[in-house]
Amino acid sequence: MSTIAWTEDTTARSAVWHSENGAPAPARLTTADDSLSADHAFRRIKAGEALLWRGDYNNGRQLLSALGRRADRVRTAQPRAARGLGALYEYERTKRRTRAGILGSVLVELDANNDLDLRRAPDVRAACEAAYGPADRPRVVAFTELLGVLSAYRWQEQGVEVPALGARVYPTYGVFSPTRSEYVDLVAEAPLGPEVRSAFDLGTGTGVLAALLAKRGVAEVVATDINPRALRCAADNARRLGYAKVITVAGPTLYPPGRADLVVCNPPWLPGVPTSDLERGVYDQDQSMLTEFIRDLGAHLTPGGEGWLVLSDLAELLGMRPADHIPNLVDKAGLRVVDTLTTRPRHPRATDRDDPLAAARTAETTTLWRLRLP
Ligand SMILES: C[S@@+](CC[C@H](N)C(=O)[O-])C[C@H]1O[C@@H](n2cnc3c(N)ncnc32)[C@H](O)[C@@H]1O
Repeated sequence: MSTIAWTEDTTARSAVWHSENGAPAPARLTTADDSLSADHAFRRIKAGEALLWRGDYNNGRQLLSALGRRADRVRTAQPRAARGLGALYEYERTKRRTRAGILGSVLVELDANNDLDLRRAPDVRAACEAAYGPADRPRVVAFTELLGVLSAYRWQEQGVEVPALGARVYPTYGVFSPTRSEYVDLVAEAPLGPEVRSAFDLGTGTGVLAALLAKRGVAEVVATDINPRALRCAADNARRLGYAKVITVAGPTLYPPGRADLVVCNPPWLPGVPTSDLERGVYDQDQSMLTEFIRDLGAHLTPGGEGWLVLSDLAELLGMRPADHIPNLVDKAGLRVVDTLTTRPRHPRATDRDDPLAAARTAETTTLWRLRLP
């Protein structure tokens, strides 16, 4: 846990520094309020200052929007078309990170009760407690991070409807949310005989696929994840859905000990370095989860058992993974592909023509690979 220090009205102050994406505490922190113009704030941030917001809450949000517009106007050289969609993707990700770094330099202080003492501020205590746990000292976080905490809490309260489940699941802060339902439908449609009594759901997130397997009649499901928040979230969803006796949550790990008749894995779909718990659901560093899942599958299947890999080909379309990568891993692990089930994305970005990566997104296919030992 690191500390952040600043001087306010000639008084030396300090608080716990918290950054979900592991950003170090800023070296220069000064207070700012409604009298600060967006242009001036932008210049101060570009000069290396972080601003502790003491103004009105809504004005602070407007300042963030104004800083966002200024960050978007900063020109950076786009990669040449010949370098391909992968280079364009990396360029877009870097641009998003730079923008997030600028906006992330506007900070707020939460007091020792997780409260935010700003004019017109909403009550943030329950959301902060859900994301961070109880506080015992004041804590400084990025204003944008707090907005993410509040937005995640709304999802946690209202839940996400999962048509294949006929129910809602309740994602918590930092846990991958099943807002794209097409991959869940693949798991709902893949053939599952009555002989399948036990299953593992590796990288369970909210526990949505574990719950779906339970609904489909699998008697024992072990759900794992590397993210402790996901483990708590999956256990809570299993309880809410009435599957607490069927689903056991284990981890942090990929494979639990033992074997199962069915092993399901929906790893992060893109190779890349995750910078937060949430990004662990999107980026698979060195593709280690994908590699380990396929490599060790045979050792975790009961005789005649089956593995289901759920993966989109966005990485292949972006040139981040060779087209024969999965077949090669399957071959090397001594497995065979029994069948593949495919689906096309239905989320709005898939048809967003303004998205620079539209060419890849519109061509994206998600596949459920059914894998077995020979
Ligand atoms: C794409 S999300 C899928 C979540 C959930 N199964 C679903 O389908 O909605 C991938 C999940 O894998 C987890 N994960 C990433 N790397 C992992 C690893 N090495 N071992 C176990 N879980 C991992 C992430 O935390 C995330 O919850």
